Amino acid sequence: MVVSLPWHDRSEDVTDLRAAEKVLDEDHHGLKKVKERILEFLAVRQLTKSPKGPILCFIGPPGVGKTSLGRSIARALGRKFVRASLGGVSDEAEIRGHRRTYVGSMPGRIIKGLREAGTRNPVFLLDEVDKMSSDFRGDPASAMLEVLDPEQNKHFSDHYLEIPFDLSEVLFITTANVYYSMPRALLDRMEVITLPGYTTEEKLVIAREFLIPKQLTDHGLTEKNIEITRPAISTMINRYTSEAGVRNLERSIAGLCRKVAREVVSGRTRRMTIAPHRLDDLLGPPKFKPDEGHKESLIGVANGLAWTEVGGVLLTIEVITMPGKGNLNLTGQLGDVMQESARAALSYARSNAEALGIPVDFRDKLDLHIHIPKGAIPKDGPSAGISMALAIVSALAQRPIRSDVALTGEITLRGRVLPIGGLKEKALAAHRIGIQTIVLPADNQSDVVDIPIDIRKRLTFKYVTTMDEVIAEALLPKSEAAVSAELTEPAAIQEPAAADGN
Ligand SMILES: Nc1ncnc2c1ncn2[C@@H]1O[C@H](COP(=O)(O)OP(=O)(O)O)[C@@H](O)[C@H]1O
Ligand SMILES: [Mg+2]
Repeated sequence: MVVSLPWHDRSEDVTDLRAAEKVLDEDHHGLKKVKERILEFLAVRQLTKSPKGPILCFIGPPGVGKTSLGRSIARALGRKFVRASLGGVSDEAEIRGHRRTYVGSMPGRIIKGLREAGTRNPVFLLDEVDKMSSDFRGDPASAMLEVLDPEQNKHFSDHYLEIPFDLSEVLFITTANVYYSMPRALLDRMEVITLPGYTTEEKLVIAREFLIPKQLTDHGLTEKNIEITRPAISTMINRYTSEAGVRNLERSIAGLCRKVAREVVSGRTRRMTIAPHRLDDLLGPPKFKPDEGHKESLIGVANGLAWTEVGGVLLTIEVITMPGKGNLNLTGQLGDVMQESARAALSYARSNAEALGIPVDFRDKLDLHIHIPKGAIPKDGPSAGISMALAIVSALAQRPIRSDVALTGEITLRGRVLPIGGLKEKALAAHRIGIQTIVLPADNQSDVVDIPIDIRKRLTFKYVTTMDEVIAEALLPKSEAAVSAELTEPAAIQEPAAADGN
């Protein structure tokens, strides 16, 4: 064991940053800011010639390219690449090894990784550092701290190895899914780069230029054997996956390649063109419903726009009233910030009840229930504030909300509208669903340039600073309520009892 470790072998670094940039571009579409920060990081490392800088940490949802960026950095530097997953590690010995007196003893993952690399200066990716846990067998996070600390890792001791190994030339990179579960002490040493995920348009390019060519090669196929049409890729993105990254999309493409490989080998066909209608057959029925808005203007239903872990989405916000005592129910797995935002929206409606045409005594008679469907998508943040306020006012005042309008904006208790993030992604989502008008905070006016021009031209933006303006843009007069009720619930109108009771 001792002899098989790379005590002296090291690879020569590629120092040409332009070559590094080229490699990063070859391996990944987009990610402009991420690549820039990586190149800056590499430049500083080269100038300071010291490994004492911070450790890169990629944070983002699955399938956004964290691991493959690590691999790409290794390729750009001409270094070996190894990775170790720390997910679920709770035993310090996993990192530091077992003493040889222990039955079945082994070195820890760091030393194993170096043996695998065969050089003492690989790029070493430590995956899922946020998923380590500590228990009675010691705290792996503090062992990691020692591994990553340039003051201490010159003499890293693995219990199995017994003599120290110098880790100071290793370029460690860490990854995590979420920020908040990262061990604090580790986070302090890291330079965090977040990868938020891709728009449908970006996924389409990634599929065509990266995932499909890669899967074809892996399955021994060429473009002569299979053509996946653009609409078929779109359908796979929107109906077969629901994710921020492209992991399941890549799996679906692999699934298609397997089917085609079988057809080709059995001689049944030499070439298959895959259009959307073939997907049912090849991949099974779609797993997700298309993202769609509702057609009629309804009471208590608002089109909120949100920026979630899976990108920009339309969140249909439903508010219903029922007999009660002024309680507020929230369902649909809303995060803390969103819940607070719902309470602020309700307070606004309460304190302005009279002006809003809401029965002032509603608190003594009614409970409010706010529901945001799509339980699988984690939803948080303040930007649904004005949509929730609008839906509450609509439900209480019995005035319908225009269905062709989508909204985004934070609300204060006094009904002021504050700016939000992720406008580009939200606008893309609104456009996808066929919304024409977006109500947004006046303070976000300067962000509109980020929206691709062809989509910008087809949307109308209404800038608002107060809730009054939101209501003026999106709420229809009460008299039209009857019309919309008729549209949605024709059965109820025909009921003779309802007519009598009037
Ligand atoms: N921007 C991108 N361009 C090209 N391929 C990408 C991009 N982002 C992700 N991929 C590919 O998607 C797949 C999943 O990425 P991966 O690195 O495993 O994600 P993560 O580690 O963040 O979960 C890989 O095949 C990766 O190469
Ligand atoms: Mg990964």
